[in-house]
Amino acid sequence: MAVKKTASAIRGSLAGVDVDAVGTHLQDTLVELVDLHLRAKQAHWNVVGRHFRSLHLELDALTDEVRAAADLVAERAAAIGYPPDGRPGTVAKSSPVAEFPAGRVLDVDVVELVADALMETCAHLRVRVDQTGELDSVSQNLLIDTLATLEKHHWMFAAQTVPAGRA
Ligand SMILES: [Fe+2]
Repeated sequence: MAVKKTASAIRGSLAGVDVDAVGTHLQDTLVELVDLHLRAKQAHWNVVGRHFRSLHLELDALTDEVRAAADLVAERAAAIGYPPDGRPGTVAKSSPVAEFPAGRVLDVDVVELVADALMETCAHLRVRVDQTGELDSVSQNLLIDTLATLEKHHWMFAAQTVPAGRA
């Protein structure tokens, strides 16, 4: 039997989902993820100091994982019927994280700045994980996976902020 392509047929099992509420959480997360992977690239290009090489490489690994997460979050928004907005202007005016400094940045400062940005984004994401729980468990699951990725990277950068000789 042919399926009629009505809005309800396309939405399928999403029929009961509050698209605006879930979509807003996904959009806010997308903005922070795009900001984060642009920030990681900016740091990748401008880091200087004794730990240049390891940070240069680590920042590219962070960029790759955050970009992949941003894609999944944006596509989840599209899948539930909420058009994702990853335009530069939208990200610039919507991101709650303070802008990364221009120009060359010393390695120890890069580590602090990236660790702080990750911590702030993780805090926002944890709130959204709680808030999406009753709205859409599939979106919540994606946000949980994203949070696990960001918390892993936060650990890796924060561990480098411990002064030498002090564990
Ligand atoms: Fe590069």
